[in-house]
Amino acid sequence: MPKVVVLRWGHRPRDQRLTTHVALTARALGASGIILAETSDQTVRRSVEKVVENWGGPFFIEENASVKDTVRRWRENGGIVVHLTAYGENIETSDVMDRIKASGRDVLVIVGSQKVPPEFFTEEISDFNVAIGNQPHSECSSLAVFLDRYFEGKELSKKFEGAKLMIIPQRRGKKVVKLSD
Ligand SMILES: C[S@@+](CC[C@H](N)C(=O)[O-])C[C@H]1O[C@@H](n2cnc3c(N)ncnc32)[C@H](O)[C@@H]1O
Repeated sequence: MPKVVVLRWGHRPRDQRLTTHVALTARALGASGIILAETSDQTVRRSVEKVVENWGGPFFIEENASVKDTVRRWRENGGIVVHLTAYGENIETSDVMDRIKASGRDVLVIVGSQKVPPEFFTEEISDFNVAIGNQPHSECSSLAVFLDRYFEGKELSKKFEGAKLMIIPQRRGKKVVKLSD
């Protein structure tokens, strides 16, 4: 299965909680890592590393990446770039997901925060502009739906490696087992 990595553009200090949630969504729904474009944030990085330490991985976080360099390297390694935007091809009413999957290539998924630069919509940056419905909502929800459709739900039963803790699903209540210290 090709791998998926998320590129988060436009993170500001006031977005710490949302960017952390984008990263946790990426990890929990099957992505291999997250790249923060043109910025770093210790609080986000520590939160993500703590979750990986306790609940397993592998999942990486990279910071201070240039969007153009990241896209160039990604393409040099054979990958494609998907920009999630409300203005793109609708994931439900078009065949865009079929075309993405048919490529058989690793996918770099770009999500924004504030308004993204116009070149994100062009071939310079994106191979596909994909809308999770053509209504504006959130980077977190759009990423979640994209990943779930890409992995066809199989990501929800993924086994995480090196976890210290694991949840045992219950009809009611909470059961967590400790696997290691
Ligand atoms: C709060 S929205 C940004 C809205 C911004 N005002 C704009 O006009 O682009 C943040 C990010 O969520 C994602 N997003 C929001 N709605 C989306 C949708 N319907 N489909 C795909 N992605 C969406 C995009 O990646 C967007 O950059």
